[in-house]
Amino acid sequence: MRKGILTIAAVGLLATGGLTACGDDSGDDKASSAKTPKIGVILPDSKSSARWEGADRRFLEEAFEAAGVQYDIQNAQNDKTAFQTIADQMITSGVTALMITNLDSGTGKAVLDKAKSQGVATIDYDRLTLGGSAQYYVSFDNETVGKLQGEGLAKCLTEKGAKNPVVAYLNGSPTDNNATLFKAGYDSVLKPKFDSKEYTKGPDDAVPGWDGPTAATIFEQQLTATKGKIDGVLAANDTLGNAAISILKKNKLNGKVPVTGQDASVEGLQNIIAGDQCMTVYKAVREEAKAASDLAIALAKGEKKETGQTVKDPEGGRDVPSVLLTPKAIYKDNIKDVIADGYVTKEQICADAYAKLCAGAGIS
Ligand code: BGC
Repeated sequence: MRKGILTIAAVGLLATGGLTACGDDSGDDKASSAKTPKIGVILPDSKSSARWEGADRRFLEEAFEAAGVQYDIQNAQNDKTAFQTIADQMITSGVTALMITNLDSGTGKAVLDKAKSQGVATIDYDRLTLGGSAQYYVSFDNETVGKLQGEGLAKCLTEKGAKNPVVAYLNGSPTDNNATLFKAGYDSVLKPKFDSKEYTKGPDDAVPGWDGPTAATIFEQQLTATKGKIDGVLAANDTLGNAAISILKKNKLNGKVPVTGQDASVEGLQNIIAGDQCMTVYKAVREEAKAASDLAIALAKGEKKETGQTVKDPEGGRDVPSVLLTPKAIYKDNIKDVIADGYVTKEQICADAYAKLCAGAGIS
C-alpha cells in the first residue's frame, strides 16, 4: 500500500526542521494565499480514546501557538451530522485549511469535497478518508501498529507458557480505515500461527465506533460463546482492552489472559503496571500534530511541501502525499519512555493505588 521513502525518512525530515517547501505560491492556490492563515480542526469524539482531547488537542494547540497562526479546534462527539455542521461553520468563518479525523469515509469525503470546492486546503489527520480528496494524509504507520500488537500478544502468551492458546479479536470500528490497517498488521503475525495450529482462532468481532461499553458486551458474549476458553485478547486500542479487562475481572481471569491495546493512555498504562494488560502501542501524537500543523500552515499560505512518500487510497486509487510516523511497543519495562516523552506524567500513572506498583515497574 505504501511506496516511496519509509517512516524513518519522514521522522528524519521532521527531526531536521520540518518538511521541504517546494516553491512558494505555486499559483494554483491563490484563494488561500491571499487570506490570513486560519486552521480548522475537527476531532472525532472524546470517548473512543483519551488521545483526542487529552493529547491531540493539546499538541495541536501547542503547534499552532508556536507558529502564531489562528485556529479553531472542535470535536464532533461521534455525531456525523455535527461533523458536517462544524465543517460548514468553519468554511463560512474563513478557515484557509481544514484538518479532519473522519467518523467514516462517506461524511469525510463530503466535507473534504465541499472544502475543496471553496478553495480551502485539506488534510486527513490520522485517518485516511477513502475515496476522499485531502491534499495530505498525516498518521502513523498503522500496519506496523497492528504488527506490534500481534507480536506483543505472542510475546505475552509465550511468557505465560500458553499452549495452543485461543485468541479472540476485538477490532476497531468498521468505518475507520485505520482499524483495517491495524488488523492487517496483527493478522500478518497471528494468521500464520492459526494456520500452523500453534494458536487457535477464537471469536473475531469489530466494535462499532470503538465504543468501550459495546466492546464489553461483545467480549462478554465472546467469553460465553467459548465457555470461558479465551487465552489472549487482541484488542485494537486501550479503550477496547480496558473493556475486555473489566469482563475478565468479573470472571477472575484478569492477569491470566494477556490483552493488548494502543494509545498509551493513562488507563492502559495503569492496566499494564497492574499486570492486567500485556502491552500498548505508543504513538507520539506531538510529532503527528506538529507534522500536520506544518503542512496546514504551508497550505494556508498557498505553499506546497514534499513529504517524500505517498499512501495509495484503495478506493479512489490516488497516491496521497503522506507523513507516516513510527509507533513503538510499550511493555511494563519501558513505560518510563512514554513519561520521558511528555505524553503522560508520572503523577497521572502513579496516582493512589498505583503508587506502589509504579516502583515495581521502574517508575520512580
Ligand atoms: C486511532 C487510534 C484510536 C482510535 C479510536 C484510530 O483511528 O488511530 O489512535 O485509538 O481511532 O479513537
